[in-house]
Amino acid sequence: MESICPFASTLADAIGQEFGAGPPSGDIPLMPLGQAADMGHAPDGTPLIDPRLFSSAEYNRNPYPYFRILRDHYPVFHDELHNCYYVTRFDDVKTCANDEVVFNTVAKGASNTVLGNTQLELSGPENRRRRNLYGQHLVGQALKLRTPAITRIANELIDSWDTANDPTVCHDRNGVRSVALGKGFANQFPIRVVGYLLGLPDEARGNFYFWYNAMMNGFGGATETHGLGLAARQDLEDYVEELVRVRRERPHFLHDEAGNPIGKDIITSLCDTRIDGDYLSTEEITSNIALLVGGGGETTRGAIMNMWYLLLQHPAQLDAVRADESLWLAAFHEGLRCAIPAGGAQPKNTTYDIEMHGVKIPAGSLVLMVNHAANRDDRVFRDADSFNILRDDLYSGKLLRSGYSDGRKSSHMSFGVGPHFCPGAWISEQEATLGSSVLLRRMKNVRIKHDAMPRDIDGVTLAPIGLVPMRELWVEYDID
Ligand code: HEM
Repeated sequence: MESICPFASTLADAIGQEFGAGPPSGDIPLMPLGQAADMGHAPDGTPLIDPRLFSSAEYNRNPYPYFRILRDHYPVFHDELHNCYYVTRFDDVKTCANDEVVFNTVAKGASNTVLGNTQLELSGPENRRRRNLYGQHLVGQALKLRTPAITRIANELIDSWDTANDPTVCHDRNGVRSVALGKGFANQFPIRVVGYLLGLPDEARGNFYFWYNAMMNGFGGATETHGLGLAARQDLEDYVEELVRVRRERPHFLHDEAGNPIGKDIITSLCDTRIDGDYLSTEEITSNIALLVGGGGETTRGAIMNMWYLLLQHPAQLDAVRADESLWLAAFHEGLRCAIPAGGAQPKNTTYDIEMHGVKIPAGSLVLMVNHAANRDDRVFRDADSFNILRDDLYSGKLLRSGYSDGRKSSHMSFGVGPHFCPGAWISEQEATLGSSVLLRRMKNVRIKHDAMPRDIDGVTLAPIGLVPMRELWVEYDID
């Protein structure tokens, strides 16, 4: 398909549809960070937006000055080239996200080929019913009981560096160890945690990474990777079929570190679940597994990577976390506010003709609620473009679906807000903060391995985090 949609990568993340960003637009120059390219001005001096921007490399790496122009001058921007509307101010995104009647979920069929029939494209009671199938495993007391297991998984991954024997993961020289934090930790950690919660047998671990990667690369249609994604999904379903048969006969329980049962795993719970008197089919159970794996992998991976990259560039803040581990929560949320790993723009279709900020939006239009831009709104967060885990206007307390705002502090938008609020928010907060505290305790004097990291256009500054999360982060620390 020809390039029809901006935000290709974030939108693809959010709905699993390949929109094809097309070649980067050569007409938008790469600018120093924080500065916007000059796309012309209206007679009254208002900066203009050239919609080719949205498929440019510049926008991908340095979107924040353009978010500012959109928020300040075009709170609802009609992009006639790509035929969609952007909503970028914090208050507007929040209002729209809470209005499921006017801003409906994206058209059916966008993600369900690879993941199967999931809640992603459903609204109202249909969506809620499906969230409830597994939701209780990802919140509250269930999480507390899993703390030791999550800590153990983090420690096991770090232990594996000692015997990695793979210089693309880890190597030692002169008392200093260099580690690729993605390959050596963050790429595997969330998947291992979700696999544990699901109750996947250890023997399936190798296949699990394969299913996950193939399905994640397989969104969209009519491509080779899509074909591989579908094959992986079928392979997973075949595996799950036998597992479901066994779990229905012999329920499987998760255990604490002392070997005491702490509750059924998610697959066993799904096997027990009935809707209107009928057990869930293998197809339905597989779709839920695929959704949890798909929703819980790349997102938390990217959140951990982005947070560490930002923290390591602010050593005083890293020292503050080292001195007071309770600050990991603030670091996690500030990291998410500054750089969303996935779902930076929520696509919705309008049900009715509406008007916002004087812009008429006809029924059936594609509206992108840009969480990423809302997070950087100076109307809500002071000096919003700077990373500051000690800022006093970001709420990092108990996660609330409706979001939090008391006029002084507000929650960020990175988990969405309203009826579709990310059901994995609680577990990803727990994973990222626990895993990171283990990492920091075990890496003495950790710092960025500058010579292994990509640079920005000046050839000196470290490359920024734009719309796409960090792929790799090389760090080094002292071993003695
Ligand atoms: C830092 C990590 C994460 C981020 C930034 C994130 C972000 C998001 C966002 C923005 C949405 C869409 C909200 C909306 O439509 O308004 C979402 C939905 C979802 N997330 Fe997450 N997520 C993360 C972790 C997880 C984890 C760990 C899981 C599962 C274990 C998960 C499962 C889901 C599911 C199933 C949905 C669909 C909810 C629905 O449509 O009702 N996510 N997530």
